[in-house]
Amino acid sequence: MKGQILKILRAESDVISGETLSSHLKISRVSIWKHIKKLREFGYHIQATPKGYRLINDPDVLHPWEFGDRELKIHYFDEVTSTMDVAGNLARNDAPHFTVVIAGRQSKGRGRLKRTWVSSQGGLYFSIILRPQIPPVLSSRVNFAASMVLARTLRNMFHIDARVKWPNDILVHEKKVAGLLSEMEAETDRVRFINIGMGVNVNNDPTPREPMATSLKKILGRNISRKQLLSGFLDEFEYRMNNGTLDNVISEWKTYAMTIGRQVTIVTTHDEFKGLAMDVDNTGALMLKLADGSIKKIVYGDCFHD
Ligand code: BTN
Repeated sequence: MKGQILKILRAESDVISGETLSSHLKISRVSIWKHIKKLREFGYHIQATPKGYRLINDPDVLHPWEFGDRELKIHYFDEVTSTMDVAGNLARNDAPHFTVVIAGRQSKGRGRLKRTWVSSQGGLYFSIILRPQIPPVLSSRVNFAASMVLARTLRNMFHIDARVKWPNDILVHEKKVAGLLSEMEAETDRVRFINIGMGVNVNNDPTPREPMATSLKKILGRNISRKQLLSGFLDEFEYRMNNGTLDNVISEWKTYAMTIGRQVTIVTTHDEFKGLAMDVDNTGALMLKLADGSIKKIVYGDCFHD
């Protein structure tokens, strides 16, 4: 109902009476008033005059009713430990494909390789529960699809040179603007769920402790609507997951890749390798040419461009 009230208020620049709203939405004027009161508590500036209501400003909030048809599959929290924790619990309790968990802040945001993901107000933090019909060996293709679609969405929406750094970081002018983490539960031949978590620096300021990070606000010099960005990304990503196969996703990812052809250092939990990034194979592994000319296949790790 809140989504429908907002839709009507947004379409009307003038005041709209409680009576009109109530007859459009087939609920009482008292119910309309209660919803308006709640919306105001959520930060919407709605003016109430004797003639009716007018939406004065539309805050960048990420509540379920802001996502149209997706509403029932969106879970929003002002603060959680990590959206990965919430998504994991929901997935184990049969939450459907494409359920999305969003948080305003995370107190224990996680990055890859057990790092912390600083998650202050203004950033976009979400996890998507996916139930693709694929064997676990192909699961990394889903991560590549997600980072490729996010890079494409950023490029199309903001006309910026968003690129992917192996495996799944998004960089603009060599600085990280988004990262992706995935967690999976599977049987031998079947994925039960893959949860993809994405953190995008949107209107937050990365701390000086993260000199290689940037934000969309910094790049574009203005605040960005997180809800438009997330809606656009979810639409594109769902379309890509439901249309065509994932067989060619790595080659699509490569069109935005900035790692191939560069000298890199790969750090894993136990090792460090230096070499020339030759290619990314069909499983998502990085083919690294070492100093002795041999090719090493790297399946996970952190990649630093030298
Ligand atoms: C990385 O670059 O190391 C991955 C960062 C992933 C951060 C996102 S924010 C939403 C989701 N919840 C988490 O705790 N982590 C991911």
